Amino acid sequence: PETRILSVDEEDMKTAVSEAVALLAAGEIVAVPTETVYGLAADAFNPDAVAKVFAAKERPAFDPLIVHISSLKELAEVAELPEDIAAVVKSLAGAFWPGPLTIVLPKTDKVPDIVTSGLPTVAVRQSGSVIFRQIGKALGRPIAAPSANRFGRISPTSAGAVMKELDGRIPLIIDGGACSEGLESTIVKIESRGEQRPLIHVLRAGPVTKEDLQKFGKVVIEKKRITDQPDAPGQLESHYAPLTPLLMFEKPEDFRPEPGKRYGLLSYRGDPKAGYIDRHEWEVVEELSPGSGKLIEAAVRLFYVMRHLDEQGLDAIVAEPVSETGLGVAIMDRLRRASSPQA
Ligand code: TXA
Ligand code: MG
Repeated sequence: PETRILSVDEEDMKTAVSEAVALLAAGEIVAVPTETVYGLAADAFNPDAVAKVFAAKERPAFDPLIVHISSLKELAEVAELPEDIAAVVKSLAGAFWPGPLTIVLPKTDKVPDIVTSGLPTVAVRQSGSVIFRQIGKALGRPIAAPSANRFGRISPTSAGAVMKELDGRIPLIIDGGACSEGLESTIVKIESRGEQRPLIHVLRAGPVTKEDLQKFGKVVIEKKRITDQPDAPGQLESHYAPLTPLLMFEKPEDFRPEPGKRYGLLSYRGDPKAGYIDRHEWEVVEELSPGSGKLIEAAVRLFYVMRHLDEQGLDAIVAEPVSETGLGVAIMDRLRRASSPQA
């Protein structure tokens, strides 16, 4: 189909909501902004609609989707709350919803298997985006939505980026401007330990940090995600990857360029006075945090800047690591995945 972009009027979201809901209710798929990245939305209870999401993204069937609820009432429709973790799940939901935290729970029978790739669990969150929740409320059903990019590519943080990924594959993109977080949600799975504080396994680092979660249990950052199915979801190393090779260097000045090749620098330190910035005559230099926002600013800009560098026809992108505290853990996770060899 021809892909249309419809801007959200902050004062009056009615048009955007009704157009999106009309399509979703008819079993179509629509790109909708969340506070993290743009999602490709489908009625979570309609397996044919969900199949269209997998097709448009060229996503393998073994990689399950996140289900977005617009109220706590909807939580009960999609997930069970086992008694031994109910208290901590409620605390986490109270503290971080609506917001960028996804919780993996046992699924109900109402959730079609295609959504969870056959897993007995479902990943659930309530998005902080007002337009996303309005659409969910008006639809009256939970929304299954992965990031609105083709499989393995960089997640889109603007409507323009979605257009580049999915033009001609979906009927509508709701344009709500740039995403305020810029990185996909933190995904956690809770494990009860009886009398002891529960374990909070972080399956994907994100905007809700280890420091944020520590109040609620003992936090374990999983190197490989735990799933109920070995070698299934989330175990794919190369992800969020630009097409241009991305090389990570502790010190970009140590990088030895090959003559005649064009290189771009993705800089975190970003101080031109440091001297290394023009030493290699970088074709393009993009700073992750040109203002004083540091990690917060770097997170918001990361995918935007990666995508921009990817469009410059470079031989390689050289990236500088960020400090691995707070949000830096999620940023480094994405940089490492982007720089791992692509299949
Ligand atoms: O911020 C976000 O989470 C965005 C916005 C659109 O909500 N969504 C997003 O979805 O990043 P997606 O599909 O790109 O990433 C979801 C990840 C997948 O890697 C999948 O493997 C994992 O969540 N996942 C989904 N269901 C799971 C489950 N039951 N157990 C473990 N991992 C699961
Ligand atoms: Mg994704």
